[in-house]
Amino acid sequence: MLFSILYAGLGLRAAVARAQSSSPNIVFIMTDDQDRRLGSTDYQSVLQRELVAKGTEFTNHYTNQALCCPSRSTLLRGQTVRLSYNETLTVQRAHNINLTNVVAPGGSYNKWVLSGQDTNYLPHWLSAAGYRSEYIGKIMNGYGLSNYDVPSKGWDHSDLLVEPYIDDFNLPVLSQNGETLVFYDGFHQTDVIRIKALDRLEYLTTNQSDPFFLAITPFTPHVGYQQDLPSHRPTPQQRHLELFPDAAAPRTPNFNPADEYQANAGGWVKDLIAMNESAINMADFVYRSRVQALAGVDEIIEDVVAKLEEKVIIDNTYIIYTSDNGYHHGQHRTPAGKSLFYNEDTNIPLIVRDPGVPANVTSSIPGLHLDMAPTFLEITGLAEESWPEFFDGRSLLPQWQDPTSSDNAGADAGQGNSKESINIEYWGNAGIEAPSAGVLGSPFVNTTYKTIRMLGAEQSWVYTVWCSGETELYDTAADPYELTNLAAADNTNATEHKALINRLNALLMVTKSCEQNACRDPWSLLSPDGATLTSLTGALDTTYDAWFAGFAVVSFDTCLAVLSDANEAPYYPELSDAVGGVGLGRAYRNATDVIEAAAGVRTIVTAEYYGSEAQRNATFAELTAASRVLTAEEIAAR
Ligand SMILES: *[C@@H]1O[C@H](CO)[C@@H](O)[C@H](O)[C@H]1NC(C)=O
Ligand SMILES: *[C@@H]1O[C@H](CO)[C@@H](O)[C@H](O)[C@H]1NC(C)=O
Ligand SMILES: *[C@@H]1O[C@H](CO)[C@@H](O)[C@H](O)[C@H]1NC(C)=O
Ligand SMILES: *[C@@H]1O[C@H](CO)[C@@H](O)[C@H](O)[C@H]1NC(C)=O
Ligand SMILES: *[C@@H]1O[C@H](CO)[C@@H](O)[C@H](O)[C@H]1NC(C)=O
Ligand SMILES: *[C@@H]1O[C@H](CO)[C@@H](O)[C@H](O)[C@H]1NC(C)=O
Ligand SMILES: *[C@@H]1O[C@H](CO)[C@@H](O)[C@H](O)[C@H]1NC(C)=O
Ligand SMILES: *[C@@H]1O[C@H](CO)[C@@H](O)[C@H](O)[C@H]1NC(C)=O
Ligand SMILES: *[C@@H]1O[C@H](CO)[C@@H](O)[C@H](O)[C@H]1NC(C)=O
Repeated sequence: MLFSILYAGLGLRAAVARAQSSSPNIVFIMTDDQDRRLGSTDYQSVLQRELVAKGTEFTNHYTNQALCCPSRSTLLRGQTVRLSYNETLTVQRAHNINLTNVVAPGGSYNKWVLSGQDTNYLPHWLSAAGYRSEYIGKIMNGYGLSNYDVPSKGWDHSDLLVEPYIDDFNLPVLSQNGETLVFYDGFHQTDVIRIKALDRLEYLTTNQSDPFFLAITPFTPHVGYQQDLPSHRPTPQQRHLELFPDAAAPRTPNFNPADEYQANAGGWVKDLIAMNESAINMADFVYRSRVQALAGVDEIIEDVVAKLEEKVIIDNTYIIYTSDNGYHHGQHRTPAGKSLFYNEDTNIPLIVRDPGVPANVTSSIPGLHLDMAPTFLEITGLAEESWPEFFDGRSLLPQWQDPTSSDNAGADAGQGNSKESINIEYWGNAGIEAPSAGVLGSPFVNTTYKTIRMLGAEQSWVYTVWCSGETELYDTAADPYELTNLAAADNTNATEHKALINRLNALLMVTKSCEQNACRDPWSLLSPDGATLTSLTGALDTTYDAWFAGFAVVSFDTCLAVLSDANEAPYYPELSDAVGGVGLGRAYRNATDVIEAAAGVRTIVTAEYYGSEAQRNATFAELTAASRVLTAEEIAAR
């Protein structure tokens, strides 16, 4: 029975390889706010040695929203939305889960729970597949002192970082399965995550026999805010504070660009002043802190690999490394942060190691976080009939197993094995994560936009419509740093590119409200005069000029911080029931108009650096001995 499911799900090659063993385990490691474009993974020697050299690196992996909560929630549910915790749990597009920011009303952990979406997401499906599922680290923004006892449903075991302590790397407070809040005094957060992950791996490999999925989700290298220490950076472990003294924010061509480029951007970006020397020095300091902090993640990888080898299950375990969203450091004059559609913020690391995945290979096959849940389910062998119908993504397993196949590489085909276009969305406020943020005008309001990005070998573009009506178009083959806006009002190229923009507009119109197959294959809804289109190259045929010129235009009535269907009309196809019916994922979630805010106050403070050399190999027993339960007064500070 199990073998026949594997046969159907994985294809001959993998099924033969696995025939003698049990279902593969999955260890999923996801950092927070880690870039792919700015070289942070180059500083991770263990990542390079154990995962990149022994696995496949996917260079065209993207998130649909450059913010934690939306990205995390789409990873967990496989629909498009933007959840509010600067992270990645999504399987649906953010517009379908309506988790569009890290805080209410756009998103937050409470909104996730109130919408009922936590009753039907990844861990429940893993259970159905016969897997034990566990989660350690950061779940979603807004999980904190006031709601820690509403644990994230479905996991067989969870141990979650809680707000507001999550922001202080030297004050780790976690809730195990929604029970007591425990403070690990004298430890660094990343060490706590590592020690707990190893303890769970020991349990999963010796005390139970089910195949397992273990998510390890450190908060680093997200910016932290720490009492009396240089803040606005991820605080590295004490033993890593002197690493990489020469590391600095890469001076990419779009680092602090000249006025001629900056003024042609859109939204809040175009008004940013040039970074002065102190702003640049700060960006360098924070970049250095990030790569130092990631040394702690490298130790997690090192210990996880060693444990899997010790238990002799490394050959039956997928190790997947990624981040929730990307990050920028001076690109487009933004000193630090995410939330933009540019490559730095949305293109994220993805490295997969497994005996069924080729070693030391780099693949440009496009993928989305949206595709992760279907991929995991295909790995487990759960029959496709048992997958939720609301998936907006598709399994990447065929690409993972054959990443250099020409069948998979032809990204210009809208159908088949690859993906030509991805859409990126954003709603609400955006911030600069630097001490000068306020001076520069952050947090910015009215930062809502919609983007379509073409990742084809022949067609490589990014097109954005801001809620203000401003548009940006970049030729990402000729202009990979996205500097020359071909749609700028005073650019003669704007008219030259009109036919192209009309096609991109139509794709964006479909993907801004797509569900399920329309998200996987937006061309299936675009048939000028009954023609069948499968790629942008085909769609650019001048025969179709008039049809695309007459297509509804993506627009906003006004700039709102939330996804309002009226504000973003028209739709294509039209919503079948604008109020409470199908469309925008509403068939699969409940309305959430009243969302209680979950603020909290840190009453425990420290100005110490933890994570000493001696703590590199600290045991679970030592960690437990240093822990204490939070008092009622400490919990009430919310
Ligand atoms: C929405 O609410 C109804 C009634 O309370 C409930 O039966 C249903 O399960 C909920 N749906 C979701 C997705 O939570
Ligand atoms: C796992 O089993 C060992 C040996 O039986 C036991 O000492 C340990 O407490 C168990 N661990 C858990 C987490 O149950
Ligand atoms: C990985 O591939 C590169 C060339 O693509 C080669 O130089 C290197 O030696 C390979 N590394 C391993 C560990 O096989
Ligand atoms: C998430 O990102 C937003 C926008 O950058 C920021 O304001 C917020 O503090 C972040 N939240 C957490 C918990 O990191
Ligand atoms: C440099 O720019 C920052 C804003 O990024 C501002 O706060 C600071 O005052 C400026 N410093 C000088 C010396 O001009
Ligand atoms: C117009 O397009 C051409 C060719 O892509 C490019 O070289 C030129 O810089 C563009 N001009 C402007 C003002 O963007
Ligand atoms: C944001 O958009 C609203 C609605 O268009 C407008 O009234 C307001 O002035 C804008 N605020 C800023 C700071 O641009
Ligand atoms: C999304 O959530 C916001 C805030 O709760 C709500 O006002 C809006 O109607 C929702 N949009 C959709 C399409 O469900
Ligand atoms: C930690 O343990 C490893 C392997 O047992 C050892 O090689 C290393 O020296 C230890 N590090 C410290 C700081 O104790």
